[in-house]
Amino acid sequence: MSSPVVLVLLLVSTPLILSAGSSKCISRNFGHDSVVCECNSTYCDSIGPVRLPPVGRFSSYLSSLEGSRLEAGEAEVQVNGSSTGLRLTLVSYQKYQKVRGFGGSMTDAAAMNILSLSAGSQEQLLRQYFSSEGIGFSVVRVPMASCDFSTRLYTYADSPGDYGLDNFTLAAEDVHMKIPLLQRAQALSPGPLSLLASAWSAPAWMKTNGALTGKGSLKGQPGGKEHKAWAQYYVRFLEEYSKYNLSFWAVTTGNEPSAGQMTNYSFQALGFTAEQQRDWVSLDLGPALHASSFPRTHVLILDDNRLLLPRWAKVVLSDIQAGRYIHGVAVHWYLDHLVPADISLDVIHQLYPEYYLFGTEACAGWSPADRGVKLGSWDRAEQYAHDIIQVGSSAACSVTSTESPSAVQFEVWDPAVGFMPSTAPPRSLLTLAWNTR
Ligand SMILES: *[C@@H]1O[C@H](CO)[C@@H](O)[C@H](O)[C@H]1NC(C)=O
Ligand SMILES: *[C@@H]1O[C@H](CO)[C@@H](O)[C@H](O)[C@H]1NC(C)=O
Ligand SMILES: *[C@@H]1O[C@H](CO)[C@@H](O)[C@H](O)[C@H]1NC(C)=O
Ligand SMILES: *[C@@H]1O[C@H](CO)[C@@H](O)[C@H](O)[C@H]1NC(C)=O
Ligand SMILES: *[C@@H]1O[C@H](CO)[C@@H](O)[C@H](O)[C@H]1NC(C)=O
Repeated sequence: MSSPVVLVLLLVSTPLILSAGSSKCISRNFGHDSVVCECNSTYCDSIGPVRLPPVGRFSSYLSSLEGSRLEAGEAEVQVNGSSTGLRLTLVSYQKYQKVRGFGGSMTDAAAMNILSLSAGSQEQLLRQYFSSEGIGFSVVRVPMASCDFSTRLYTYADSPGDYGLDNFTLAAEDVHMKIPLLQRAQALSPGPLSLLASAWSAPAWMKTNGALTGKGSLKGQPGGKEHKAWAQYYVRFLEEYSKYNLSFWAVTTGNEPSAGQMTNYSFQALGFTAEQQRDWVSLDLGPALHASSFPRTHVLILDDNRLLLPRWAKVVLSDIQAGRYIHGVAVHWYLDHLVPADISLDVIHQLYPEYYLFGTEACAGWSPADRGVKLGSWDRAEQYAHDIIQVGSSAACSVTSTESPSAVQFEVWDPAVGFMPSTAPPRSLLTLAWNTR
């Protein structure tokens, strides 16, 4: 059997034959450093289904500041390497964690924006994200109730004192927007989507501050009635979504628990320390999921910046009672420049190889210095690519990033296959793919 190897190189590419795909990018410049591809109700650029070339050849996909967007190329694998320049050697016996998939978030804001398009454009957009002719998103993070990408504050259990969650009910945002879109995405996807749920805040009445925003945590202690009710809220969420035939691969222990420890925090948050999270998983969330109809749902801890690693994961995962309910450590990308991957992600991967690392949130435009939407920003494309390669490289496949204002010549050497020479234009992103026999 042949197995595909995909190597992602930042800033890379090639004098390969670039085949003009059946549907090209209709580029449009919005005044930032690069272009976007414009789609409408009847047209969208597409790379089409991706097939690996036969053994002896390799394919490449190039995107660049200059305007290339997933331009396909193909070339011959060489028997001999060149003696000059950069060589990247694939060490195939060195295995890391598997890549679960790539995806995005179905927030209230995403759903509202998608549904504001014409029916034809919605279909094009969903097809380009989720179908096999598009970029093949297979993971979707779904906020549980409102978050900072909502237009109002709400949870699913806003009746004060409703410890039994008798009045638990999904919001209009779920029933009329997110769920129908998730069902359409699932219908377009060639395989089951991996849905991941994260909650931003518990209902105000369960919290020390009596509000969804600001500094506050659950009242009482792990094992107490608020902590139990909050765990049961997760089970009720999974039950309600399952009525729409949407099942979740994983839940996180909550979005950015450190945010809820900050005075006057501006949006929905629920504070936990690592110790409180450990005990809540061990005494409440873990047992509640285990006893529910969804015992195989994965639990991912942290769901916050890697600034908190390795300490946070050590506190939680070192506890044998909590650890047995947990599958992975979810990380966000904000402030990554302060914390290199090797002292955060790598340490956790080495200490706890049985738990996987998973990137759950990355969003450009949040910083006051670089705020809002910037259509066509290549700088942001590089930020995202850098993050994907970093989170991937500490755990998944061998990847290299280079940043250069001029072209970079290099070759990839897979000892089982041969040499794959390439040249990267300035500020470009290149993916090479080949059969390893
Ligand atoms: C959609 O875009 C294509 C390609 O630019 C164009 O030929 C077509 O007229 C557009 N259709 C509509 C409905 O705007
Ligand atoms: C590869 O190198 C070997 C030994 O240096 C040489 O004999 C052979 O002709 C080369 N093959 C190709 C395809 O250049
Ligand atoms: C549920 O909602 C109803 C109607 O709003 C209210 O009368 C009832 O007290 C609520 N139940 C709980 C347990 O909060
Ligand atoms: C439920 O979803 C699965 C895929 O996740 C699909 O195979 C099945 O047909 C769906 N069932 C209904 C009733 O829609
Ligand atoms: C938090 O908000 C309150 C009310 O707006 C204000 O009085 C207080 O100074 C703020 N605290 C901090 C630390 O900003």
